[in-house]
Amino acid sequence: MIELCDKAGMEKDTPMDKVALPKELDTTGLGKTARKDAWWLEPLWTGLGFAVFVVYSTWGALNPGPEGHPYYEWGPYLSPFFSPLFVVQAWPEWWPKLARTPALFILWAPLGFRATCYYYRKFYYRAYFMDPPACAVGEPRGQKYQGERGLFILQNMHRWFLYPALALVVILAVDGIKSYFFADGFGIGLGSIVLTINPILLGVFTFSCNSFRHLVGGNLDCFSCSVANKTRFKLWNKVSVLNRNHMLWAWLSLIWVGFSDLYVRMVAMGIWTDWRIL
Ligand code: FES
Repeated sequence: MIELCDKAGMEKDTPMDKVALPKELDTTGLGKTARKDAWWLEPLWTGLGFAVFVVYSTWGALNPGPEGHPYYEWGPYLSPFFSPLFVVQAWPEWWPKLARTPALFILWAPLGFRATCYYYRKFYYRAYFMDPPACAVGEPRGQKYQGERGLFILQNMHRWFLYPALALVVILAVDGIKSYFFADGFGIGLGSIVLTINPILLGVFTFSCNSFRHLVGGNLDCFSCSVANKTRFKLWNKVSVLNRNHMLWAWLSLIWVGFSDLYVRMVAMGIWTDWRIL
């Protein structure tokens, strides 16, 4: 930075907000940048990819299938969008027909967890709000960031969404185990594999969360002062390893949870045949 200032002929003690950047580095205005790489690629694919997921999951949640032949379960398989399953025998008359779906009782938890995730915030601020679209690229409103205010203050609830997310990992792991028990006894179907991978990926995503890392090793002044603290330090180190690839786990788990619902739905609708391996 000092070198930049020197080049621009500025005094070394000029306050930062008064420093005039060289013209070629000025990023005032949407998309203005000196970057020569394909910086737009990441906001493009993340924005499109997440939009596809939101459209599919909304459609899937609002289409549980006809009464008596739901599309969210088949044999021992249960779609993760509907687990744990709460079946309402008689919806109140005034309840909108479109919203009569058991997914309503579930999806708020993973939705809240992902929407407030630090990585998701980074990508949707870039892809949808373009605020900014990438590092060192101009944004529409200029540099007026004032912290998380207004509705965005709800982002602080991430640490609380962690608890239902952890509970869902356990519930979906149980679903994965149940998926091996068919009406004719123990077996392995392709769906069993799909529903086993799902809680593993969701688990790794959840355990790599920044809030989980803090839960495990945060609020400690001394890591070596007691056996409990030493154990927490060891755990924190392991969680930190997972945390390094949080973005990867976020995408893999998102894609797989959508595919798991699609798999169960297609098999329940009779469009795909479940391959019974054992
Ligand atoms: Fe991404 Fe917590 S930071 S799930």
